[in-house]
Amino acid sequence: MLLRAAAIAGALVLATAATASATPATEDQPLIIGGTLASTSEAPWAIALTNSAGPAPTGRWCGAVLVRANKLITAAHCMTRPAGTYTAVQGRADLRDRSSGQTARIAGIWIHPGYNRANNRNDFAILTLARPLTGVPVIRLETNPKADRKGVVPTVYGWGETSDTGPDDTLQKIAVPDLGDATCLANKEYVGYGYAASANVCAGYLDGTGDSCQGDSGGPLVLNGRLLATVSWGKGCAEPGYPGVYAEIAPNAKTLQTQLDK
Ligand code: ARG
Repeated sequence: MLLRAAAIAGALVLATAATASATPATEDQPLIIGGTLASTSEAPWAIALTNSAGPAPTGRWCGAVLVRANKLITAAHCMTRPAGTYTAVQGRADLRDRSSGQTARIAGIWIHPGYNRANNRNDFAILTLARPLTGVPVIRLETNPKADRKGVVPTVYGWGETSDTGPDDTLQKIAVPDLGDATCLANKEYVGYGYAASANVCAGYLDGTGDSCQGDSGGPLVLNGRLLATVSWGKGCAEPGYPGVYAEIAPNAKTLQTQLDK
């Protein structure tokens, strides 16, 4: 989870996004700049994906979301390696703490047939776990396309990059205002990268207050207890003028449910 705020001036003055208050942070509170620490009990369905062939075999690779006892939704663009190299980690806020939480190997990967790597449309994959994570609450999919609207404030969770403003490989969250499709469609670069109102959620802070970042992809953007979207892409992270782009669940809910219920 990233936030880059007033790093230029060397002064760390930021709002804690979770409360959307304007409480200034100081250099004594580096952990709350942009994102805040999250517990796995508040987000039990938030899953870290590690990759044994990646640069950090037990560290973050991508995020994912537990939507059935044995099924995860993640980003299609995260699935660049063989299934056997991935491990799902649940209940482990600090990925270095291998005594906490539980893990499951990945037995199968389904990539959304409409996934387009050129424009990142349909950036969804469904992973089947080698064993179910029983006793862990799953999150429901948002099925209403109208849930994505300007002004609502979903929360994104992830173990991803913090640009040294938070601990590494540790679950964080940040409330990111839904800016509405028009905001991202007004950005020519984003239209060029493939932003689509029917497929994406545009969320974050135009002033660069905070954002999701590399390593958060595939992880949950949650509104009213439902999975609104998953982390997909952005230009840089927390760059002023460049919000986070999320893959919206509702327009794809039927396709995803059908695959999940197989
Ligand atoms: N593609 C990135 C990943 O693989 C996620 C990027 C999200 N970027 C952003 N600015 N919100 O982790």
